[in-house]
Amino acid sequence: MTNEAIPNLTAFNEAALDQAFAALEKQASDGAASLDGPEAVEAYRLQWLGRKQGRLNDVSSRWLKAAPPEAKKLLGQRFNALKKHVEDLLDQASGAGPSDAALAAEAIDITLPGTRRLTGAEHPITRTLHEITQVFAALGYSVGVGPEVETDYYNFESMNFPPGHPARDTQDTLVVANQERRPLRDRLLLRTHTSPVQMRTMERQAPPVRIIIPGKVHRNDAADATHSPIFHQVEGLCVDTNITFSDLKGTLDHAMKALFGSSVKTRFFPSFFPFTEPSADVQISCIFCGGKGCRKCKQSGWIELLGCGMVDPAVFAFAQEKQPAYDPKKISGFAFGMGVERIAMMKYGISEIGQFYAGDMRFLGQFV
Ligand code: DAH
Repeated sequence: MTNEAIPNLTAFNEAALDQAFAALEKQASDGAASLDGPEAVEAYRLQWLGRKQGRLNDVSSRWLKAAPPEAKKLLGQRFNALKKHVEDLLDQASGAGPSDAALAAEAIDITLPGTRRLTGAEHPITRTLHEITQVFAALGYSVGVGPEVETDYYNFESMNFPPGHPARDTQDTLVVANQERRPLRDRLLLRTHTSPVQMRTMERQAPPVRIIIPGKVHRNDAADATHSPIFHQVEGLCVDTNITFSDLKGTLDHAMKALFGSSVKTRFFPSFFPFTEPSADVQISCIFCGGKGCRKCKQSGWIELLGCGMVDPAVFAFAQEKQPAYDPKKISGFAFGMGVERIAMMKYGISEIGQFYAGDMRFLGQFV
């Protein structure tokens, strides 16, 4: 890099000035021609434009200051032209960037298709859960949740499973260890169903209530093709004045048609749950054979899908401890509970419940 000292000027006429500035422009151009990277460009910028040591600063202090007043204008014009020349050279040099070869190596072909990134998708269980919730939300139900670690009181006692009652044996329960010193009602367990959230809801809210409760539940069941110790349920509860079994039938018939198609039929079979009286199991006409009878419905034409019933007055009596308005003489209600995995398996033709939890992308990728 040339860095000859700026000579002193002896003559200030136009010809002398032209010659002096032409020499500097040439030096500037020569210097800029060999710049080979951002560091060299920066050194060049300092060399010419640096505030204290830069050559233009030198020109200004040696020539401008020494110039007789009548030459100052001519000198100033040339000085500005030189400055612009250096700045242009710098712009070019810093814009030039890497060599053509380096550029070619890095070039991207914008005509090639892009790399498609996988966006996530709802897990089929979550999706089914949302679908069910949606059907009831459209009927004016709100959505509630409750804890998965529940007390014996909410999971069993307040749902009318008294301590020691054989109905408790129908739900093989995982309990939290080392709680023998607590009263039974306060002992913790993993909820075996979403029904306890019925009571939690009623304790917080006087009637009318219309609520749907999606959630995860746990049972000490061995896993097989259709059972998993952890699964999902959607609970429903409707309490108001004059709620009848017809309301229950109409609501669930509508929900099944919304979920499985308008041609499905429903039928209600007497059943037993401690927290409903009367209780029923709901069957839908087989969605695989349309009711004619096939392997899936064991030739019966019907598939059992959920439990339901009219809320037992004993359950309202527990709710009345916190909310006196749940007076079974004045209000009535229905409840229902359904297994999400079972519904998802039917909707999507899945025969192994374990597929939902295996995390196999070949399976999950089908639901994108
Ligand atoms: N909690 C029951 C179970 O897990 C399902 C159920 C049946 C819920 C009837 C209800 C109901 O609310 O009315 O087996």
